[in-house]
Amino acid sequence: MFKIAVCPGDGIGPEVIRQALKIVRRVGEVFHLVFEVEECLIGGSSIDQTGKPICSETEKIVQNSDAVLLGAVGGTQWDHLDIALRPERGLLAIRKLLHVYSNLRPVRIFPSLTANSPLREEIIRNVNLVIVRELISGIYFGEPKGIENLPGGQRRGFSTMSYTTEEVERIARQAFDLARRRKKKVTSVDKANVLDVSRLWRETVNQVHQSYSDIQLEHRYIDECAMRLVKSPSEFDVVLTGNMFGDILSDEAAILAGSLGMLPSASLGESIALYEPVHGSAPDIAGEDKANPIAAILCVAMMLENSFNLTDLSLVVERAVEDTLNDGYRTADIHQVGSDLVGCDKMGDLIASKIHQ
Ligand code: IPM
Ligand code: MN
Repeated sequence: MFKIAVCPGDGIGPEVIRQALKIVRRVGEVFHLVFEVEECLIGGSSIDQTGKPICSETEKIVQNSDAVLLGAVGGTQWDHLDIALRPERGLLAIRKLLHVYSNLRPVRIFPSLTANSPLREEIIRNVNLVIVRELISGIYFGEPKGIENLPGGQRRGFSTMSYTTEEVERIARQAFDLARRRKKKVTSVDKANVLDVSRLWRETVNQVHQSYSDIQLEHRYIDECAMRLVKSPSEFDVVLTGNMFGDILSDEAAILAGSLGMLPSASLGESIALYEPVHGSAPDIAGEDKANPIAAILCVAMMLENSFNLTDLSLVVERAVEDTLNDGYRTADIHQVGSDLVGCDKMGDLIASKIHQ
């Protein structure tokens, strides 16, 4: 039996998670596996019900699970709140609580979607990369931080980007280990021409690399890497980077896949892993059955592989997604002339129906 804690969250989170759970149920039925699902609150919906973006009940449930599936957090109705009380804080807290320092964001292009990217087909055709984003340190968590009053009525805001050698070592090892199972190339991304924190990052990655002589390592600056990611994305295999650069590059990389609604992610640490789509809560389309559930469904595939060691079944889910796209069904974000426009719920049903022994 596998215990999954589910945090639907805000905006389109509940809609896409509902589809992901259809897939979980279907995999359970077809392959005779028992998945026990327990729902909990996170983000704005948690603020509304408990006053806090994450509560002790949720902390207990996720810590007692084998894996956590999360939708999205945030929405305009909570934008006025102090930064320490906003929905996003719940997400950062759950990442920290589960100690999931390694966030894997794979970018693959489904052949039937190559025309969806604004980039030319020959540029994206062979793209197959993974962003390995450090998730529980860097500028998201660094101290000191805050906003202070200065004499004369001015104010000063400050955040700190900091990494210890240990934090860089453990994420670098994840990237090199992953590259070993792939095309054996790691691109480490930093701003070592300006930032001290990046200089330590680069030195430490070089040191870890000494135990991985079979892996090719290159270093790139974040600005040049951002350009190269759209100029020649098929050059990349594993992209290793810190928390903020990884956040930015992964949204950029979504353009390769045709839509942000296509990218899943897995956040791994020592034990319980967290799976969340790369996209946000998209309040503008929430509740309208327009969201693309594929990122959330591909999160289920990543969960089957990484948390439950069911790699074959993970491939079954990926193939079900691919088959459904090949049949011409599209949600609004990936819709094109001649394809069949479907809603979030229907897309979930279609993909589930493609899962067989
Ligand atoms: C992401 C999101 C989050 C992040 C936000 C919602 C806190 O943008 O997972 O990419 O910045 O990590
Ligand atoms: Mn982001």
